[in-house]
Amino acid sequence: MRLVLLGAPGAGKGTQCKHIAAQYGLLHLSSGDILRKERAAGTKLGKKAQQFMDSGVLVPDEVILEMMAEAIKKAPAVGFILDGFPRTVNQAVHLDKLLAAGDRTLDAVLNLKIDDRIVAKRMTGRRSCPQCGAVYHIENLRPKVEGVCDNDGAALVQRPDDGPEVVANRLKTYHQQTEPLVDYYKNNGTFFDIDADGDPDRISSLIFEKLDALVNSPEANKDVKRKL
Ligand code: AP5
Repeated sequence: MRLVLLGAPGAGKGTQCKHIAAQYGLLHLSSGDILRKERAAGTKLGKKAQQFMDSGVLVPDEVILEMMAEAIKKAPAVGFILDGFPRTVNQAVHLDKLLAAGDRTLDAVLNLKIDDRIVAKRMTGRRSCPQCGAVYHIENLRPKVEGVCDNDGAALVQRPDDGPEVVANRLKTYHQQTEPLVDYYKNNGTFFDIDADGDPDRISSLIFEKLDALVNSPEANKDVKRKL
Protein backbone atom coordinates (compact mmCIF):
# COMPACT_ATOMS: atom_id res chain seq x y z
CA MET A 1 0.00 0.00 0.00
CA ARG A 2 1.39 3.45 -0.94
CA LEU A 3 -0.03 6.36 1.02
CA VAL A 4 0.47 10.10 1.52
CA LEU A 5 -0.55 11.87 4.72
CA LEU A 6 -1.18 15.60 4.25
CA GLY A 7 -1.76 18.20 6.95
CA ALA A 8 -0.57 21.48 8.40
CA PRO A 9 2.50 21.59 10.65
CA GLY A 10 1.44 20.06 13.97
CA ALA A 11 -1.70 18.41 12.54
CA GLY A 12 -0.40 15.11 13.91
CA LYS A 13 1.14 13.63 10.75
CA GLY A 14 4.12 12.11 12.55
CA THR A 15 1.95 10.76 15.38
CA GLN A 16 -0.59 9.16 13.03
CA CYS A 17 2.00 7.88 10.53
CA LYS A 18 3.65 5.86 13.30
CA HIS A 19 0.28 4.21 14.09
CA ILE A 20 -0.55 3.58 10.42
CA ALA A 21 2.90 2.18 9.65
CA ALA A 22 2.63 -0.22 12.61
CA GLN A 23 -0.92 -1.30 11.73
CA TYR A 24 -0.22 -2.10 8.06
CA GLY A 25 3.51 -2.95 8.21
CA LEU A 26 4.45 0.06 6.04
CA LEU A 27 7.67 2.05 5.95
CA HIS A 28 7.18 5.52 7.45
CA LEU A 29 9.10 8.05 5.36
CA SER A 30 9.15 11.52 6.89
CA SER A 31 11.00 14.18 4.89
CA GLY A 32 11.37 16.29 8.07
CA ASP A 33 12.90 13.38 10.02
CA ILE A 34 15.31 12.60 7.18
CA LEU A 35 16.38 16.26 7.04
CA ARG A 36 16.86 16.39 10.83
CA LYS A 37 19.04 13.25 10.70
CA GLU A 38 21.14 14.81 7.93
CA ARG A 39 21.52 17.95 10.05
CA ALA A 40 22.52 15.98 13.13
CA ALA A 41 25.13 14.11 11.06
CA GLY A 42 26.46 17.43 9.69
CA THR A 43 26.16 16.34 6.03
CA LYS A 44 26.25 18.74 3.06
CA LEU A 45 22.51 18.19 2.57
CA GLY A 46 21.80 18.86 6.25
CA LYS A 47 23.81 22.09 6.18
CA LYS A 48 21.98 23.21 3.04
CA ALA A 49 18.57 22.58 4.64
CA GLN A 50 19.30 24.17 8.04
CA GLN A 51 18.62 27.87 7.28
CA PHE A 52 15.33 27.07 5.52
CA MET A 53 14.05 24.81 8.30
CA ASP A 54 15.00 27.23 11.08
CA SER A 55 13.09 30.09 9.45
CA GLY A 56 10.00 27.98 8.70
CA VAL A 57 10.19 28.01 4.90
CA LEU A 58 10.47 25.10 2.51
CA VAL A 59 13.78 23.55 1.54
CA PRO A 60 14.19 23.97 -2.27
CA ASP A 61 12.39 21.33 -4.35
CA GLU A 62 15.53 20.07 -6.09
CA VAL A 63 17.13 19.15 -2.73
CA ILE A 64 13.99 17.40 -1.47
CA LEU A 65 13.19 15.59 -4.72
CA GLU A 66 16.57 13.91 -4.94
CA MET A 67 16.52 12.95 -1.25
CA MET A 68 12.98 11.50 -1.34
CA ALA A 69 13.43 9.70 -4.68
CA GLU A 70 16.36 7.83 -3.16
CA ALA A 71 14.36 6.91 -0.02
CA ILE A 72 11.28 5.80 -1.99
CA LYS A 73 13.34 3.62 -4.33
CA LYS A 74 14.67 1.73 -1.30
CA ALA A 75 11.18 1.15 0.19
CA PRO A 76 10.07 -2.48 0.63
CA ALA A 77 7.41 -4.02 -1.65
CA VAL A 78 4.79 -3.91 1.11
CA GLY A 79 4.71 -0.11 0.70
CA PHE A 80 5.16 3.17 2.51
CA ILE A 81 3.45 6.15 4.04
CA LEU A 82 4.86 9.57 3.15
CA ASP A 83 4.83 12.24 5.86
CA GLY A 84 5.73 15.84 4.91
CA PHE A 85 6.29 14.97 1.26
CA PRO A 86 5.06 16.08 -1.21
CA ARG A 87 4.68 19.64 -0.01
CA THR A 88 4.30 21.54 -3.28
CA VAL A 89 2.36 20.71 -6.43
CA ASN A 90 5.68 20.43 -8.24
CA GLN A 91 6.83 17.77 -5.72
CA ALA A 92 3.54 15.89 -6.22
CA VAL A 93 3.96 15.88 -10.00
CA HIS A 94 7.50 14.50 -9.60
CA LEU A 95 6.27 11.85 -7.19
CA ASP A 96 3.62 10.74 -9.71
CA LYS A 97 6.31 10.48 -12.40
CA LEU A 98 8.66 8.55 -10.13
CA LEU A 99 5.94 6.02 -9.25
CA ALA A 100 4.74 5.75 -12.86
CA ALA A 101 8.29 4.89 -13.95
CA GLY A 102 8.01 1.76 -11.76
CA ASP A 103 4.42 1.13 -12.96
CA ARG A 104 3.01 2.20 -9.60
CA THR A 105 0.56 4.81 -8.28
CA LEU A 106 -0.53 6.07 -4.87
CA ASP A 107 -3.34 4.02 -3.30
CA ALA A 108 -4.72 6.82 -1.14
CA VAL A 109 -4.09 10.31 0.22
CA LEU A 110 -5.30 11.21 3.72
CA ASN A 111 -5.65 14.84 4.76
CA LEU A 112 -5.57 15.73 8.48
CA LYS A 113 -7.81 18.79 8.94
CA ILE A 114 -7.07 21.07 11.87
CA ASP A 115 -7.54 24.69 12.93
CA ASP A 116 -4.40 26.91 13.04
CA ARG A 117 -5.06 27.89 16.69
CA ILE A 118 -4.92 24.26 17.84
CA VAL A 119 -1.72 23.72 15.85
CA ALA A 120 0.10 26.56 17.59
CA LYS A 121 -0.69 25.08 21.02
CA ARG A 122 0.37 21.58 19.98
CA MET A 123 3.70 22.66 18.58
CA THR A 124 4.88 24.79 21.47
CA GLY A 125 4.21 21.80 23.80
CA ARG A 126 5.83 19.17 21.60
CA ARG A 127 8.87 17.27 22.84
CA SER A 128 10.71 14.65 20.76
CA CYS A 129 13.29 11.95 21.30
CA PRO A 130 16.52 12.77 19.43
CA GLN A 131 17.36 9.05 19.25
CA CYS A 132 14.21 7.18 18.15
CA GLY A 133 12.06 10.10 16.93
CA ALA A 134 9.15 9.37 19.33
CA VAL A 135 6.91 12.42 19.75
CA TYR A 136 5.31 13.58 23.03
CA HIS A 137 3.39 16.61 24.29
CA ILE A 138 3.79 18.25 27.68
CA GLU A 139 0.01 18.09 28.27
CA ASN A 140 -1.62 15.79 25.71
CA LEU A 141 0.85 12.94 25.40
CA ARG A 142 3.18 12.80 28.37
CA PRO A 143 6.04 10.34 28.69
CA LYS A 144 5.97 8.05 31.77
CA VAL A 145 8.85 10.04 33.31
CA GLU A 146 8.88 13.77 32.59
CA GLY A 147 11.48 14.75 29.98
CA VAL A 148 12.57 11.15 29.27
CA CYS A 149 11.72 8.95 26.26
CA ASP A 150 9.66 5.84 27.14
CA ASN A 151 11.42 3.78 24.45
CA ASP A 152 15.11 4.40 25.08
CA GLY A 153 15.52 6.70 28.11
CA ALA A 154 17.00 9.58 26.06
CA ALA A 155 16.41 13.17 27.24
CA LEU A 156 13.56 14.72 25.24
CA VAL A 157 14.23 17.91 23.28
CA GLN A 158 12.21 20.78 21.82
CA ARG A 159 12.57 21.31 18.07
CA PRO A 160 14.33 24.58 17.14
CA ASP A 161 11.50 25.42 14.71
CA ASP A 162 8.75 25.11 17.36
CA GLY A 163 9.05 28.67 18.72
CA PRO A 164 5.96 30.91 18.17
CA GLU A 165 7.48 33.08 15.39
CA VAL A 166 8.74 30.18 13.31
CA VAL A 167 5.46 28.29 13.85
CA ALA A 168 3.57 31.31 12.43
CA ASN A 169 5.87 31.26 9.40
CA ARG A 170 5.44 27.52 8.91
CA LEU A 171 1.65 27.92 8.93
CA LYS A 172 1.88 30.73 6.37
CA THR A 173 4.12 28.57 4.18
CA TYR A 174 1.68 25.67 4.54
CA HIS A 175 -1.34 27.74 3.41
CA GLN A 176 0.52 29.26 0.46
CA GLN A 177 2.47 26.30 -0.87
CA THR A 178 1.13 23.03 0.52
CA GLU A 179 -2.63 23.49 0.89
CA PRO A 180 -3.09 23.58 -2.93
CA LEU A 181 -2.18 19.87 -2.81
CA VAL A 182 -5.60 19.16 -1.29
CA ASP A 183 -7.29 20.11 -4.58
CA TYR A 184 -4.56 18.40 -6.59
CA TYR A 185 -5.22 15.07 -4.87
CA LYS A 186 -9.00 15.49 -4.54
CA ASN A 187 -9.12 15.55 -8.33
CA ASN A 188 -6.63 12.75 -8.77
CA GLY A 189 -7.25 9.41 -7.01
CA THR A 190 -8.57 8.19 -3.65
CA PHE A 191 -8.71 11.01 -1.11
CA PHE A 192 -9.96 11.10 2.49
CA ASP A 193 -10.43 14.16 4.75
CA ILE A 194 -9.87 13.27 8.42
CA ASP A 195 -10.89 15.45 11.37
CA ALA A 196 -7.59 15.74 13.28
CA ASP A 197 -8.99 17.40 16.43
CA GLY A 198 -9.51 15.05 19.36
CA ASP A 199 -8.05 11.95 20.91
CA PRO A 200 -5.13 10.56 18.79
CA ASP A 201 -6.41 6.96 19.13
CA ARG A 202 -9.87 8.00 17.91
CA ILE A 203 -8.24 9.68 14.91
CA SER A 204 -6.24 6.50 14.20
CA SER A 205 -9.47 4.46 14.32
CA LEU A 206 -11.08 6.79 11.75
CA ILE A 207 -8.06 6.33 9.48
CA PHE A 208 -8.01 2.53 9.92
CA GLU A 209 -11.72 2.39 8.98
CA LYS A 210 -10.98 4.12 5.68
CA LEU A 211 -7.89 2.06 4.93
CA ASP A 212 -9.51 -1.27 5.89
CA ALA A 213 -12.36 -0.48 3.50
CA LEU A 214 -9.77 0.21 0.80
CA VAL A 215 -7.83 -2.99 1.50
CA ASN A 216 -11.04 -5.06 1.48
CA SER A 217 -12.67 -3.44 -1.55
CA PRO A 218 -13.15 -5.78 -4.52
CA GLU A 219 -11.24 -3.33 -6.76
CA ALA A 220 -8.14 -3.34 -4.55
CA ASN A 221 -5.15 -4.78 -6.37
CA LYS A 222 -2.94 -7.36 -4.69
CA ASP A 223 -0.40 -4.70 -3.67
CA VAL A 224 -3.01 -2.96 -1.55
CA LYS A 225 -4.37 -6.19 -0.11
CA ARG A 226 -0.94 -7.22 1.06
CA LYS A 227 -1.05 -6.58 4.79
CA LEU A 228 1.52 -7.93 7.23
P1 AP5 B 1 8.34 18.54 9.17
O1 AP5 B 1 9.18 17.85 10.14
O2 AP5 B 1 7.65 17.77 8.10
O3 AP5 B 1 7.32 19.40 10.00
P2 AP5 B 1 5.79 19.76 9.77
O4 AP5 B 1 5.09 19.37 8.54
O5 AP5 B 1 5.82 21.22 10.03
O6 AP5 B 1 5.07 18.86 10.74
P3 AP5 B 1 5.41 18.60 12.21
O7 AP5 B 1 6.45 17.54 12.30
O8 AP5 B 1 5.70 19.90 12.94
O9 AP5 B 1 4.00 18.16 12.77
P4 AP5 B 1 3.19 16.82 12.61
O10 AP5 B 1 2.00 17.08 11.74
O11 AP5 B 1 4.07 15.67 12.26
O12 AP5 B 1 2.65 16.70 14.10
P5 AP5 B 1 3.08 15.74 15.30
O13 AP5 B 1 2.55 14.38 15.09
O14 AP5 B 1 4.55 15.89 15.59
O15 AP5 B 1 9.17 19.69 8.42
C1 AP5 B 1 10.05 20.54 9.09
C2 AP5 B 1 10.74 21.46 8.08
O16 AP5 B 1 11.52 20.67 7.14
C3 AP5 B 1 9.79 22.29 7.17
O17 AP5 B 1 9.40 23.50 7.81
C4 AP5 B 1 10.67 22.51 5.94
O18 AP5 B 1 11.60 23.54 6.14
C5 AP5 B 1 11.44 21.18 5.82
N1 AP5 B 1 10.75 20.20 4.94
C6 AP5 B 1 10.26 18.96 5.32
N2 AP5 B 1 9.71 18.33 4.27
C7 AP5 B 1 9.84 19.17 3.21
C8 AP5 B 1 9.45 19.10 1.84
N3 AP5 B 1 8.79 18.04 1.34
N4 AP5 B 1 9.75 20.15 1.02
C9 AP5 B 1 10.41 21.23 1.49
N5 AP5 B 1 10.81 21.38 2.77
C10 AP5 B 1 10.53 20.35 3.62
O19 AP5 B 1 2.23 16.42 16.47
C11 AP5 B 1 2.53 17.72 16.96
C12 AP5 B 1 2.33 17.75 18.50
O20 AP5 B 1 0.94 17.57 18.78
C13 AP5 B 1 3.05 16.62 19.25
O21 AP5 B 1 3.49 17.11 20.49
C14 AP5 B 1 1.97 15.54 19.45
O22 AP5 B 1 2.19 14.77 20.62
C15 AP5 B 1 0.71 16.40 19.59
N6 AP5 B 1 -0.46 15.73 19.02
C16 AP5 B 1 -0.53 14.96 17.89
N7 AP5 B 1 -1.81 14.55 17.67
C17 AP5 B 1 -2.55 15.08 18.68
C18 AP5 B 1 -3.94 15.04 19.00
N8 AP5 B 1 -4.82 14.36 18.24
N9 AP5 B 1 -4.36 15.71 20.09
C19 AP5 B 1 -3.51 16.40 20.86
N10 AP5 B 1 -2.17 16.47 20.63
C20 AP5 B 1 -1.70 15.83 19.53
